[in-house]
Amino acid sequence: MKIAIINGPNINLVGTRESEIYGKQSFDVFYHSLKNKYPEIIFSHFQSNIEGEIIDKLQEIGYSFDGIILNAAAYTHTSVGIGDAVKAIKTPVIEVHISNVWAREEFRHKSYISSHAKGVIAGFGLQSYELAVKSFLG
Ligand code: DQA
Repeated sequence: MKIAIINGPNINLVGTRESEIYGKQSFDVFYHSLKNKYPEIIFSHFQSNIEGEIIDKLQEIGYSFDGIILNAAAYTHTSVGIGDAVKAIKTPVIEVHISNVWAREEFRHKSYISSHAKGVIAGFGLQSYELAVKSFLG
C-alpha cells in the first residue's frame, strides 16, 4: 500500500510553533515513528508553503497512490484550487488537521477540501495522521 502525506504551510514549524495548539513534537520525528510502526506501508511525505506546489503534487501522485492524507493547513480555508485538485484526482484523500478547527476561530470552520474528501479527521494532534492511515488499512 502506498500512502502519501501532503502538508501545507507552516506544518514544517510544528513542534516549535504555538505548541499549546500543535504540540511539542516535530512532524519529522512523528513521521519517522509512523514509518517504523507501519513497515508494510510505502510512505511518501511532501511539505510546501506554496499553494501551486501542493496542487502540482496532488496532480502528480493522485493517480498512482492508494491514499493521500492532506493537511492543507491555512490553505484549507482559502484555496478553491486545492479543493478542485482533490476533486479531480482519483486517489482518495483524507483531510486531516492537528487541531480541532471547529473549536477555533470561525474562519477555520470553512474548508474547500472537505466536500471532496473521503473523510475528515481533526483534533487529535499528530495522531490525526495515524488515524487516517488506519482508516486506509480498513
Ligand atoms: C491546521 C489548522 C489550520 O487552521 C491552520 O491554519 C494550520 C494547521 C491543523 O493542522 O490544525 O496551519 O491545518
